[in-house]
Amino acid sequence: MKLEFIDTKAENAFDLLCGKVNGCVLCSRMKDSQRVLNHSSGSLDAEIMFIGEAPGRLGADNSGIPFHGDKAGHNFEELLEFANLDRSRIFVTNAVLCNPRDESGNNSTPTKVEVHNCSQHLAEQIKILNPKIVVTLGSIALESTRHVAPHLLTLKDDVRTANEWFNRILIPLYHPGQRAMMHRSFANQRSDYQFISEEFKRLTKKSVSSKLQTSSINHSVFLIVKEIFAHLNSIDYFKLHKLFYLIEYKYFKKFNSRLTNAYIVRQKDGPYCTDLHFQKIKKALPELVIRNKAGNLILNYSASIFAPPSEIDNKAKEIIIEVLKDYGQLTSQAIKTKVYLTEPMRKFLKLENEGKLNLYNVPIEFNQTVHTAIRSLK
Ligand code: URA
Repeated sequence: MKLEFIDTKAENAFDLLCGKVNGCVLCSRMKDSQRVLNHSSGSLDAEIMFIGEAPGRLGADNSGIPFHGDKAGHNFEELLEFANLDRSRIFVTNAVLCNPRDESGNNSTPTKVEVHNCSQHLAEQIKILNPKIVVTLGSIALESTRHVAPHLLTLKDDVRTANEWFNRILIPLYHPGQRAMMHRSFANQRSDYQFISEEFKRLTKKSVSSKLQTSSINHSVFLIVKEIFAHLNSIDYFKLHKLFYLIEYKYFKKFNSRLTNAYIVRQKDGPYCTDLHFQKIKKALPELVIRNKAGNLILNYSASIFAPPSEIDNKAKEIIIEVLKDYGQLTSQAIKTKVYLTEPMRKFLKLENEGKLNLYNVPIEFNQTVHTAIRSLK
């Protein structure tokens, strides 16, 4: 079996665009900032593209993953989950691809000029992906689409409506950050995301589950985390991500289906699961205690004695026990080595070492062994 990078038009164009975005110096206050456009933005085959405002200081600017790591990101991911929209099947970007900060270093709103500067990158993303539906999150995102092709939509008058625009459908929504909740409650925003799923179904005559969700999902991420804690009640946060990856990997190898629909990307130190952001775990498991020990987060959890029995099936239990027995006591460094010995990670490293690709932030897709950019050819 030979691995090759497929030179598809979209993959090439996207990689070229990321290079161009990385070299962009149009906005003076952000000319040295990190740019948040990479493979963790989602699938290039996505039929739905979400556009936010700009990477947040504590979120995308820190994680490198659009809408991930801050409050706006948590809300967004919760809304996606509510509408059964799987992150690996959509594409998420921002009107401005760098984090705009004020003089005190806090997030600030991008200026009209900055939105205009970045709109050429947005136009290229739309051209490469050619999504059926574009969803704008907030007024800045809506404004950015006007630079790509004109329209007269406003957030106030046209929220949650499907509009013909530039050979596709444009749906204006409010931003999921806390500030916008004053104008649009979370309950209303949930219905907005449901509307997107329905619109998608109407356009493609396919149900969300057939097209946007990973098939054969057996369990929720937090059910698995709870089961891990039932065996190890104190875990290093770094190690939790690696153990979770190993559980998903072993489960997929044995049963040829995903255990959860967790979105796992290859970050600098190995697999990182967006669903396992510590604030999300804390929200799902309120009894969790998080301590910071010399820069490492240590998670402690003991289920309440009144907790109902685990709903996890025996197949999942068996894999979790096997992984915890083999790797649960290893140090973070040793578990990282084990992770890098698994097939998807070895393939990432091989391609990187050959200098073919930068696979940082690429989603790990177990069913194709590595990302869609890489196909195995006989
Ligand atoms: N994170 C993003 O990526 N975009 C936003 O608009 C807000 C947070």
